[in-house]
Amino acid sequence: MKIDLLSPASFAAGQPHDQYRWLREHAPVKWHDEPNGSGFWAVTRHADVWTVDRDFTNYSSEPTIMIQDPLPGAGQGGLGPYKMMLMMDPPEHTAFRKLIRGEFTLPAAKLREDRIQALAKQIVDAVIDKGECDFVGEVAGEMPSFVIAELMGLPLDDGRELYKLTETIHTAPEALPPGAGTAAVLKMFEYANGVIAEKRARPADDLASKLLACEVDGRRLEDPEFLLFFLLLVDAGGDTTRNLLAGGLLALMENPDQYAWLMADLAGRLDTAREELLRWTSPVIYMRRTARRDVELGGQQIREGDKVVMYFGAANRDPAAFERPEALDLARRPNEHIAFGTGPHGCLGQHIARIEIDAMLAEVLTRMADFELAAPTEWLPSNFISGPKAMPLRFRPRG
Ligand code: HEM
Repeated sequence: MKIDLLSPASFAAGQPHDQYRWLREHAPVKWHDEPNGSGFWAVTRHADVWTVDRDFTNYSSEPTIMIQDPLPGAGQGGLGPYKMMLMMDPPEHTAFRKLIRGEFTLPAAKLREDRIQALAKQIVDAVIDKGECDFVGEVAGEMPSFVIAELMGLPLDDGRELYKLTETIHTAPEALPPGAGTAAVLKMFEYANGVIAEKRARPADDLASKLLACEVDGRRLEDPEFLLFFLLLVDAGGDTTRNLLAGGLLALMENPDQYAWLMADLAGRLDTAREELLRWTSPVIYMRRTARRDVELGGQQIREGDKVVMYFGAANRDPAAFERPEALDLARRPNEHIAFGTGPHGCLGQHIARIEIDAMLAEVLTRMADFELAAPTEWLPSNFISGPKAMPLRFRPRG
């Protein structure tokens, strides 16, 4: 089996489950060459991914969680000496995560539920009479960009513009014009600098104002630290949630028996269905760690400094962790999927994400029916984030 987990071509029709299967069975911790880099270990079994994600003493999130090392002077996720929380280790990471954690607890997320449901209605209202839409851009992508805008206290339309920038940031550089990724990051920072000025002048009850007033290690958060928080929050919650929704609807269309089962009791079955769609789509393809010392993993000797890459989509189809992993089973319980990661960096936005997903699925599935693809689905040319790039869809408004 030819293994290539770097080329965007391997992800052009969704995640490469045939490669994942072979790797899990034959080489669950496999050395993978990297044309312009040192190479990395690809980790594909659930138990090993789980171990690496939780074991921050052996596996570090520094200098980056992307496979490619930061270019000197222009680090991904870094700004001069400053780092993004996603790329820190405890105890530094713990101190930064504490600054925003309160906004993302289950009770805090629940307080947003009514508003999120109202947004879901507004989003479907905008397309319902047309009988067709691009489900990715017009429906699935709207929700996370609105929610992040509301969290940060920004106009909803700005959320939509910021979300377009994240899409560029997550696209493989080889699929973009030269410099486009960096330009998108700079635009994001330019916008966030405006937010700093606005929220300092007129602080409000929103996360941006709260962050600007925060202290870490007894000192005020500096502007570059705010910019990196801003980039992380806009980046992390946008295309992940969108891809879950679009990839999830596609999975329902491809599995009519499962779709029918869900519709027979949507409210009662949404809970297990959502978790199964998370397992099935696994929107985040990988996170990288770097070995802090020599360590053994899955029978392989990892050396200090080696890159170790966790493939969440592969772990989520591991037969050692799931019965009939290749079947979409919306009633699956238990479902120990790892689509949100685990350990100190486990997705901070997962409670909000679940509320967004439920609100959108409920709204879409109760108001739209007879879904039909108007063109073949094209997938994002990315080896990091998985989902349909566009999904032109015809549908019938329900009664
Ligand atoms: C379906 C939707 C989503 C998926 C699949 C997802 C997945 C992930 C994954 C895999 C990680 C890394 C976990 C690890 O390294 O163990 C992560 C981290 C993170 N996510 Fe999400 N996410 C989603 C939605 C969101 C939303 C809506 C937000 C915010 C509103 C968010 C905010 C974050 C943040 C801030 C981190 C970094 C946490 C840290 O470094 O401590 N995510 N997410």
